[in-house]
Amino acid sequence: MRRPCVAGNWKMFETASEARILVSELLSGLIELDNKVEIVLCPPFTSILPVAALLEGTGIGVGAQNMHWETSGAFTGEISPVMLAEFCKYVILGHSERRAYFGENDEGVNRKVKAALENGMVPIMCVGETLEENEAGKTRQVVSTQVRNGLNDVDASSIMKVVIAYEPVWAIGTGRAATAAGANQVIADIIRNEVSLSFGDDAAQAVRVLYGGSVKASNAEEFFRQVDIDGALVGGASLKATEFLPIVRAAGS
Ligand code: PGA
Repeated sequence: MRRPCVAGNWKMFETASEARILVSELLSGLIELDNKVEIVLCPPFTSILPVAALLEGTGIGVGAQNMHWETSGAFTGEISPVMLAEFCKYVILGHSERRAYFGENDEGVNRKVKAALENGMVPIMCVGETLEENEAGKTRQVVSTQVRNGLNDVDASSIMKVVIAYEPVWAIGTGRAATAAGANQVIADIIRNEVSLSFGDDAAQAVRVLYGGSVKASNAEEFFRQVDIDGALVGGASLKATEFLPIVRAAGS
């Protein structure tokens, strides 16, 4: 059984003081929850410490949104896995905004995935096709390449720890989510199939795959009803307790 996971990607929102308010709103709404759902909050770097302090002992995980693959070094402006691992158990890697605006590619994403695993963190590796690629019928080619390259050389014993997020770029922040059935099909036929080719069937069935892209309270349940969707990576709707809490509840029901 794959444990459902709902991760909030706060992107470049929430100062430390705003983050404290949001976390306390979330915590008061989560009191009655059992631990059926793995909940993860991924604030910007400057809010990681205060959020981690507030979440201590709650069972809710903290994640970063990016990192360098090196342990330390002369990399101005970067942050290392060792630094993050003191506070975070998760790290989002290869998000399409990183790929589109900061020149990230599969090779770098792969280094980061391996560095996260080596440092005991759970990488949430994002893959997904652009609108143009989708319309040109290239979804399979693009997504399977991203999965294959991103997981290249990952130790077979670590693959179960990786979380993959399928985020079609055209669905992110647009309010235009993929259909639940369409997302499920990409996850089953392309993503799990690719994991199976590299790591075998058991791994393909064990690895968790989330859907991301305009997930909100009103459509979450539909996604979670799909057999191959194990939860969601939530952007905009993770910044409002009134949206995020029902998404978490839907994942647990
Ligand atoms: P969105 O973003 O939920 O605002 O579409 C999802 C993401 O970028 O992870």
